[in-house]
Amino acid sequence: MERELEIRDSATQDRAAIAALYARAFPDEDLLPLVRDLLDDPGVTISLVAVVDSAIVGNVIFTTCHVDSIDTRAALLAPLAVDPASQRKGIGSALVQCGLQRLRDAGIGMVFVLGDPAYYGRFGFRQEASVGAPYPLPLDWADAWQSQRLTDAVAPLSGKLALPRYWLDPALWSG
Ligand SMILES: CC(C)(COP(=O)(O)OP(=O)(O)OC[C@H]1O[C@@H](n2cnc3c(N)ncnc32)[C@H](O)[C@@H]1OP(=O)(O)O)[C@@H](O)C(=O)NCCC(=O)NCCS
Repeated sequence: MERELEIRDSATQDRAAIAALYARAFPDEDLLPLVRDLLDDPGVTISLVAVVDSAIVGNVIFTTCHVDSIDTRAALLAPLAVDPASQRKGIGSALVQCGLQRLRDAGIGMVFVLGDPAYYGRFGFRQEASVGAPYPLPLDWADAWQSQRLTDAVAPLSGKLALPRYWLDPALWSG
């Protein structure tokens, strides 16, 4: 029987399950300090969880931000994690699509991501060359820095993505 997938905002009581999820999805990387900071800033971040049979099997977080001093509201998609036992079932895609719709509904004009273009390209992300990441990226990551426009109203932007302090760690941008 097909099991039902629910995507909803994460809640304080989901924290332990989210921490366990990141430990499984990123066994070689400790993203927990960043994830804690992101979840501690709900006025700025949108955190969605994927739930199957009452278990949290996925999480995506968006940080709202802007490009230098320009007024256009933007967002950064990261991190995204799906439990290894639940991967390749469309859960990551459902989290991303649901998050993009939430950003559109909030009037956010542009979204950025640093990730594999083979994955994020399917959601409409394309390489971003005019707006830079907070730190210079390794040269072979140029095509991993991507964006997409969420409304036609956004004028072409250039500058650098201005993010909250917890993103201002060069180690998060250097692989
Ligand atoms: C990447 C990730 C979120 C995808 O979640 P998912 O629920 O498995 O994704 P979906 O089921 O929606 O999509 C699966 C498709 O994405 C592809 N895919 C998964 N990870 C990929 C990657 N890193 N690069 C390219 N394609 C990828 C799969 O091959 C599959 O392709 P298919 O539909 O043609 O078979 C999940 O694999 C994960 O958490 N990985 C570990 C953490 C990670 O790398 N996060 C992303 C950080 S940028």
